[in-house]
Amino acid sequence: MNAVEARGLSKRFGPKLALKDVSFDVRKGEIMGLLGPNGAGKTTTVRILTGILRPDSGSATVMGHDVLEEPLEIRRCIGYLPETPCLYERLTVEENLAFYGRLYDVPEEELRRRIRDLLALVGLKDRAGEKVGALSKGLKQRVAIVRALVHDPPVLILDQPTSDLDPASAKDIRGLIKELNRSGKTVLICTHNLTEAEELCDRIAIINEGCVLAVGKPGELVKDLEGSHHSFEISSFGSISKYLKVIEGLGGVLEVKQVGEDRAVVVLEDRKAISAVVRELILKGCDVLEVRMLRPGLEEVYMRLVRGP
Ligand SMILES: Nc1ncnc2c1ncn2[C@@H]1O[C@H](COP(=O)(O)OP(=O)(O)OP(=O)(O)O)[C@@H](O)[C@H]1O
Ligand SMILES: [Mg+2]
Repeated sequence: MNAVEARGLSKRFGPKLALKDVSFDVRKGEIMGLLGPNGAGKTTTVRILTGILRPDSGSATVMGHDVLEEPLEIRRCIGYLPETPCLYERLTVEENLAFYGRLYDVPEEELRRRIRDLLALVGLKDRAGEKVGALSKGLKQRVAIVRALVHDPPVLILDQPTSDLDPASAKDIRGLIKELNRSGKTVLICTHNLTEAEELCDRIAIINEGCVLAVGKPGELVKDLEGSHHSFEISSFGSISKYLKVIEGLGGVLEVKQVGEDRAVVVLEDRKAISAVVRELILKGCDVLEVRMLRPGLEEVYMRLVRGP
């Protein structure tokens, strides 16, 4: 059994078809990323999984429980960090957490212990008595994550947990997510940050305009693209400008871009054409220093899928 199974989810808002037949799994113990641009349907998908929103068609389970038929079990299984975290600014950190813990019927003694342990885990042990409104965004986000954890759910669903944070705070939060994953939590994270997806996720589903375009390990998705990708960076001693025309005129060269005084990127129809390019450059007097094949990154996979080739 997978931690999450989404099957053929569709959702319309008036004339807007926000989700079209969305299916994917989240395996137990993994960090899965839903990666897509603004308006792709990430939040709509996770709101359906948490039971906040009803799909028009399709079904989904979390830890084997049907999101439509078993709302109480679903609440117990999922820790949800919404896009805009809902904390009470005028309550203290501890009061906020205790409030949510009671909503989830966590026994008082257990709740106290959990709040203490979780605050220690996120480095906020000494801030329990402070008003949430007085904390920085990064610290608020840590409290919001703890809030999603007070009932000790096996699955964490985080909607853009670092989108509003500075790079250092975002890195802290990513570290925390990894730690929670190591401690046994399955994580589904929505993001449009490619570096975050690559750094954090075991697998990702790329979603755009309500459709899942690809699912796989970041490395696998990149590998699929490698076969059809033939870009090389050529660097020379001294300026390369005057040789660009030479390269452009050769057969099999699709594109030439100067990327620095002494460097150019060439895109070829077939990677074998690189030998002819280098031979011609040397014949024309260019002192070639280095030729490097550019491997595609997740960014390129993403751009191709989202924007087309
Ligand atoms: N309650 C709603 N009423 C009307 N349209 C909605 C509603 N919620 C979402 N939409 C539309 O559905 C589409 C998907 O929105 P969604 O919020 O799921 O995208 P997202 O991937 O989370 O985007 P973002 O990265 O900006 O958070 C968008 O076109 C959005 O405008
Ligand atoms: Mg969203």
